[in-house]
Amino acid sequence: MSESVPGGAHTGGATLAAENAGRSGPGPFDPARLRDRFPIFRPEGPNAGLVYLDSAATAQRPDVVLDAINDFYRDDNANVHRGLYELSRRATERFEEARSTVARFIGARDTAEVVWTRGTTEGINLVAATWGAGNVGPGDEILLTMLDHHSNVVPWQLLARRVGARLRYVDIDESGRLRLDQLDAALKGPVKLVALNHVSNALGTINPVAEVVERARSAGARVLVDGAQGAPHLPVDVEALGCDFYALSAHKMGGPMGIGALWARRELLDAMPPYQGGGEMIDVVHPDESTWAELPHKFEAGTPNVGGAVGMAAAVDFVQSLTPAAVKEHESRLVAYGLERLGRVAGLRLFGPAEPEDRIAVFSFAMQGVHPHDVATILDAQGIAVRAGHHCTQPLMRRLGVPATTRASCWVYNTTDEIDRLVEGLEEAARVFG
Ligand SMILES: Cc1ncc(COP(=O)(O)O)c(C=O)c1O
Repeated sequence: MSESVPGGAHTGGATLAAENAGRSGPGPFDPARLRDRFPIFRPEGPNAGLVYLDSAATAQRPDVVLDAINDFYRDDNANVHRGLYELSRRATERFEEARSTVARFIGARDTAEVVWTRGTTEGINLVAATWGAGNVGPGDEILLTMLDHHSNVVPWQLLARRVGARLRYVDIDESGRLRLDQLDAALKGPVKLVALNHVSNALGTINPVAEVVERARSAGARVLVDGAQGAPHLPVDVEALGCDFYALSAHKMGGPMGIGALWARRELLDAMPPYQGGGEMIDVVHPDESTWAELPHKFEAGTPNVGGAVGMAAAVDFVQSLTPAAVKEHESRLVAYGLERLGRVAGLRLFGPAEPEDRIAVFSFAMQGVHPHDVATILDAQGIAVRAGHHCTQPLMRRLGVPATTRASCWVYNTTDEIDRLVEGLEEAARVFG
């Protein structure tokens, strides 16, 4: 089933970028017009006027993703890799084309290196349970960071407990960037794996992954990148990053929930035992033993989420059509604007890097004298959806000395006007609680 991927990362067309540029004058795209592509925001719908600032939790889906899923189930639905009839062949083709689309998107050289998962969490658990079990032993160390999501902490805790390994953490500096000076010292230990996120969901920090990989690899450690927040916001090229594993989720980038992908180097996947047993992942089954299917099917037990894979590919095509560079440019504008506007709100403590180039448009903050949940409730009353809590980063919250933050997170459809609405909402919260 292996297939090489021509063209490398981000070779998608620029249809929508061109369309939007035509409709909205200069600039790569106009987010206000782009909203028309997201049915959930339609003015006649139940969410008319909603300011959605919780895309780090899950992004909204464009029409092309909804259509692709619907079309698949309407026209092409059958189980894959099994049927000898035309419909099943077509379903299989769409499923495997979707895999190639994701492979190209992340710069994989080989489609067989892309394993479908339920999302980032499952991708990381897969690596911990298979590669981890075979390569991490008593006394070994797994190096994480203070920025990691629980999905990139707890699987390693489970592994460490099972095999007698130890977890260590690279700290952050006062602005929420990784302390790279600590990395080198930590890498002097028996570190088998460095696991970090590409982008922090809690602070928006963009981590210098290529640099971390270079140092980790020269110390003999493997590197896993949690790309849940990388893929929606940054161009991803796993070969250029140099990492060994990259996990991502479709729903953070306009695709459906419950589907994602794990990329890993072929030689690692070849050596890893299966994750789960069942149909699809076997070659030959005897009463007492079995042999495994070729990559990547060895890691995909049971009927896969074909509609999800098709939807994820449509989301990738959508992001490609905007061009990842244009997405990043739009995001940089929002970051600069948000930092400036939020920086002027009295009593607001803004977490994360002050330099726009070090972050994405995720704004985590604390309001003096107001609990983050109360801030979120007051914003909700004004039609502004933000997240308040620990953002699945309890060690980080503890490190920052807060129980929780309020977080406003943006994606391609958000505008500077919405940041203005957020600021007005926060001023209202300050008045209510002042
Ligand atoms: C940085 C990061 N890692 C991992 C995850 C887990 O992703 P999923 O729930 O899609 O598996 C998230 C989701 O919030 C995240 O933001």
